[in-house]
Amino acid sequence: MNKNYILKKTAAYVKNKLRNEFSGHDWYHAQRVFKMATFIAGQEKNADLFTIQLAALLHDIGDWKVNSSKKSEAEILRLALKEIRVPKEVGEKILQIILNMSFSKNLDKKHKLSIEGQIVQDADRLDALGAIGIARAFAYGGKNSRQLYNPKIKPKLHNSTSSYRKAKSTTINHFYEKLFLLKSQMNTKTAQVIAAKREKFMKKFLKEFYAQWKEG
Ligand code: ADP
Ligand code: NI
Repeated sequence: MNKNYILKKTAAYVKNKLRNEFSGHDWYHAQRVFKMATFIAGQEKNADLFTIQLAALLHDIGDWKVNSSKKSEAEILRLALKEIRVPKEVGEKILQIILNMSFSKNLDKKHKLSIEGQIVQDADRLDALGAIGIARAFAYGGKNSRQLYNPKIKPKLHNSTSSYRKAKSTTINHFYEKLFLLKSQMNTKTAQVIAAKREKFMKKFLKEFYAQWKEG
């Protein structure tokens, strides 16, 4: 198996698949998750880098936030794995990771992930934090007709996948409803440290945001 060739083919496939994506889940997001997951894998435990890298690249191509087709996430992923000719046993591991790693799918029931899955999940969640996390949140909010902020609408914590997906809140509320919950859910020590730094920056941003809101 030529791993480099498969990785190159996967990157090209994802780039093409996400070419019309403007909600913060574009090719550059996949690339950052790839880089971060590779970094975490180097710092942490013994994990299979090839599985991690492929899962990182493919993780959002069938996501509910991106997928407007009638195909299910699993169908989209199976089609991609087949077309790229990812070996069966690696493909199954990747499916297990991607189908169970998202924030909303873990609200109903916490899924147990492999070490490879834990690393990709951390890398994905880290990209929702910090300066880029802020930018992505507002991009998503704009695409989905959400207000930036509305002091009359209070944040609401969700404990089921469906209530989270149905809710129509503001983007500032999203910080409290999801983004600030991520730090304590990081699997690896490496990600916990990076998350703390990124969260601190977001809190500083919010302080400025509220101050400017008052100034008018
Ligand atoms: P996950 O699938 O675990 O939610 P993703 O990387 O696929 O992670 O997407 C999450 C990104 O979408 C984050 O950057 C997040 O800020 C952004 N986003 C913004 N508003 C929302 C929202 N209301 N629901 C879900 N994601 C949102
Ligand atoms: Ni993602």
